[in-house]
Amino acid sequence: MTKPLSAYQQKNGAILVGDSGKNLESLTKGFATPFFLYNADHVRARFTRMKEAYLKQGLPVSIHYATKANCNPRILSLLASLGAKADVVSLGETELAIQAGFLAESVLFSGVAKTVKEIEGALRLGVGQINVESLGELERIAKIAEKMKHTGPFDIGLRLNPNVCPETHPYITTGLQENKFGLEEPAVREAVTILKSAPWLRLRGLSLHIGSQLLDLTALDEALEVGKFVQDRLRADTGWNLDRFDVGGGIGIQYAQFDESDEIAVVDQHASLLKKHLGADLDSGKLTEILTEPGRWLVARSGVLVTEVQYVKTTPHKTFVITDGGMNLLIRPALYEAQHRIEPFIRRPSNNPSLEKVDVVGPICESADFLGRERNLGDVRQDDRLAVFDAGAYGRTMASLYNQRGWPDEYIYLDGTLEKVNVSN
Ligand code: LLP
Repeated sequence: MTKPLSAYQQKNGAILVGDSGKNLESLTKGFATPFFLYNADHVRARFTRMKEAYLKQGLPVSIHYATKANCNPRILSLLASLGAKADVVSLGETELAIQAGFLAESVLFSGVAKTVKEIEGALRLGVGQINVESLGELERIAKIAEKMKHTGPFDIGLRLNPNVCPETHPYITTGLQENKFGLEEPAVREAVTILKSAPWLRLRGLSLHIGSQLLDLTALDEALEVGKFVQDRLRADTGWNLDRFDVGGGIGIQYAQFDESDEIAVVDQHASLLKKHLGADLDSGKLTEILTEPGRWLVARSGVLVTEVQYVKTTPHKTFVITDGGMNLLIRPALYEAQHRIEPFIRRPSNNPSLEKVDVVGPICESADFLGRERNLGDVRQDDRLAVFDAGAYGRTMASLYNQRGWPDEYIYLDGTLEKVNVSN
């Protein structure tokens, strides 16, 4: 077993990067803010830990990293070099993944709105599997694939909507009937009819992804039960092999705390659930491969967003700590009311009551532009630098140019060295 993980630690009022003992403040002195820093050592440790969890259960799991979480080229190339495969939702992500070193055949292509250009591109590049989200999409893929059938057959999965409700923010549930994702069971059966007249497409199995930021796996347990039932029935009805099962991503992290041990335990529970539902089919040889699509769990902890305090503005009602990075770089607090821990690089004690609960807000002309509310940052002052934690997933990838503030720099900390590697825009 690898030793306990921690992406960052706080010691004597300072922030240290991983267990390197390196101080975030001295490591990044003089860097123009705002910027993201990713502790890639930690990404590597997480990937290794996740692999171990499945290996311990003897499960043949292909870990397809969901590149939408963080598509920095160095993070992608690191994960590719460690043996990760990729999960993408656009041609843009497909191209980035391949440029970074993922083999086309290791790419899993999901997403509800695949255009003709994207389907043609994916088939031409030779992606490993396309997960189909609607009957209209299947008809479109069948038509395009027929024209390219000399290079086929092409592997597809059908994304099942199992109608389960995980405990997470309503904007990031995806496996409920009211969500736009996947096919309900009757539609899966209609899909089989389409597939029977499209021999250049080969159905490898079902896929599901019920939502993101899951810390309780009860709903996944239910979804796997449904998924396995539907896949068995399909196998019996068609006589097809259906040797893969894709269980999606979604494992969450504990944004409220530095201690990572609880979320590490969730990965072990995940492995046990896969064993419980799919173990017998693997033993009998019906299934040969389980696919997973984790994003956040692998990369969220690795990233900090560093911003600089421009003004500390006290009104009779409130104190605002106004920084040079906000919802344009990390939209999660505004969109999901997500709570990211925020710490000054150097914390000074304060006995000023107006600083007890400050709102940390960004530069954008919207009142939704906050990074954290009612926080205690001690005696915070102009020019102080703040670290916003757990910004390694869905930070830079969801950033925008709103208010034309430009793109932030990105730094990678790996094997004791720091390198600037910006995502190409
Ligand atoms: N597979 C599919 C089909 C997905 O839609 C997603 C995420 C994943 C895998 C990876 O999920 P993860 O392991 O990262 O939870 N912007 C939101 C999260 C949206 C997730 C969208 N789909 C956030 O910042 O919380």
